Amino acid sequence: MAEELIPADSDEAAAAAGAEEEEQPIKQRKNGLYPGVSDELAENMTSGWADTELRDLEPIAQAAHTADRRAALSARFPGERLVIPSGNLKTRSNDTEYAFRASTEYAYLTGDQSEDGVLVLEPQGGGHRATVYLLPRSDRENGEFWLSGQGELWVGRRHSLAEAEQLLGIPAKDVRELPEKLREATGPVRVVRGHDAAIEAALTDKVTAERDEELRVNLSEARAVKDAFEIGELQKACDSTARGFEDVVKVLDKAEATSERYIEGTFFLRARVEGNDVGYGSICAAGPHATTLHWVRNDGPVRSGDLLLLDAGVETHTLYTADVTRTLPINGRYSELQRTIYDAVYDAQEAGIAAVKPGAKYRDFHDAAQRVLTERLVEWGLVEGPVERVLELGLQRRWTLHGTGHMLGMDVHDCAAARTEAYVDGTLEPGMCLTVEPGLYFQADDLTVPEEYRGIGVRIEDDILVTEDGNRNLSAALPRRADEVEAWMAALKQG
Ligand code: GLY
Ligand code: MN
Ligand code: MN
Repeated sequence: MAEELIPADSDEAAAAAGAEEEEQPIKQRKNGLYPGVSDELAENMTSGWADTELRDLEPIAQAAHTADRRAALSARFPGERLVIPSGNLKTRSNDTEYAFRASTEYAYLTGDQSEDGVLVLEPQGGGHRATVYLLPRSDRENGEFWLSGQGELWVGRRHSLAEAEQLLGIPAKDVRELPEKLREATGPVRVVRGHDAAIEAALTDKVTAERDEELRVNLSEARAVKDAFEIGELQKACDSTARGFEDVVKVLDKAEATSERYIEGTFFLRARVEGNDVGYGSICAAGPHATTLHWVRNDGPVRSGDLLLLDAGVETHTLYTADVTRTLPINGRYSELQRTIYDAVYDAQEAGIAAVKPGAKYRDFHDAAQRVLTERLVEWGLVEGPVERVLELGLQRRWTLHGTGHMLGMDVHDCAAARTEAYVDGTLEPGMCLTVEPGLYFQADDLTVPEEYRGIGVRIEDDILVTEDGNRNLSAALPRRADEVEAWMAALKQG
């Protein structure tokens, strides 16, 4: 990557400016933007550029939906100014940054994904007036576009404010004016915290943590029921994810010759080509790594005879993610014990999925899956029954480890700020989407199970939409039953 020519605010630039103070060209002395640049070059760079303004743009596909979401939010906070930032770039090291991902709250309400953007809902009449504050196109007159780190010459063309207005269906203004406006604003304000320190600093005397948290909780709960656009995106995410899993099966021999990283890289390629990114760090866990729930180091060996637990999801361009797990026999055939354990998890998942329907308690699918797993653990003699006693004491949890699922959407663990009564103690409704993902995990050093169990981990995870009359498995394109998985792998390896 190239270095910026002359970072306007660097020590080097300041030194250059100081050293030649007497001879500085007029523009440099005036605005400090041109250190070390001849007047001729500066003049040259300000002109000779075409007008590339885009006109008559069609609104983005979700514009009508984001308007509905803003209207719903407006109704919940009458008379209050609401500030929802997109977030800023975060430094990875020195002058490199992590890939930017807009805050879920901002993207949900605007459809926009710009860094440094801020949505403001200002009370007006009985409702609110929405404005999206964005960084405009770079100024060419003052040199910003080629001399500033955020200049478009370096980071690429942004939409002009007029273009953004057409695309998003929201009036757009220059975000650089916003902190001052917020400092001067009167009346009640709430901000979604954790995304933009400068915006929070501008509001510091006006907000409280408690009231801001209410806004975050409210937005989290609002996302529980997905609209038609969101359901379409979740289906796309699952479809791309299924193709990513197929990609992995086709290269298992290369993974065996290298490491779990080959699997991570293969899935990532699909995610980047068809979507925005992976929705979370892919878990590419071969052999005993399958028993580590968040195995994302992915630096271990891939061995024939072992299982591969692959938990991965493509995030779409509009930031909806799938969250799918398959546990695959690396050589294409489950061993007898692997299959016994796999079938137990499969049966538990079937019981869990059957419990997903409108009107059911959220906890029902977890309870149904845990019961099946516990029955098997008792049957295999790993824990002393009866099943009711084990469930009451939670003894199965040594091997089931985690809850059986969670809400899914723009965040992999979506709606995470929702109140308990609106989530785990709540009731399922059509339009909710959740994962059903039971698992059994026998740690490599678990002396309470027979040796042959140790180091085996199995999880099966699908993305289930609650419908009017039951549910729909959005990730059904990937086989789940053991014999179907084997047949699918064999076909992919032949093809
Ligand atoms: N991939 C994270 C989860 O399954 O919840
Ligand atoms: Mn998962
Ligand atoms: Mn999950």
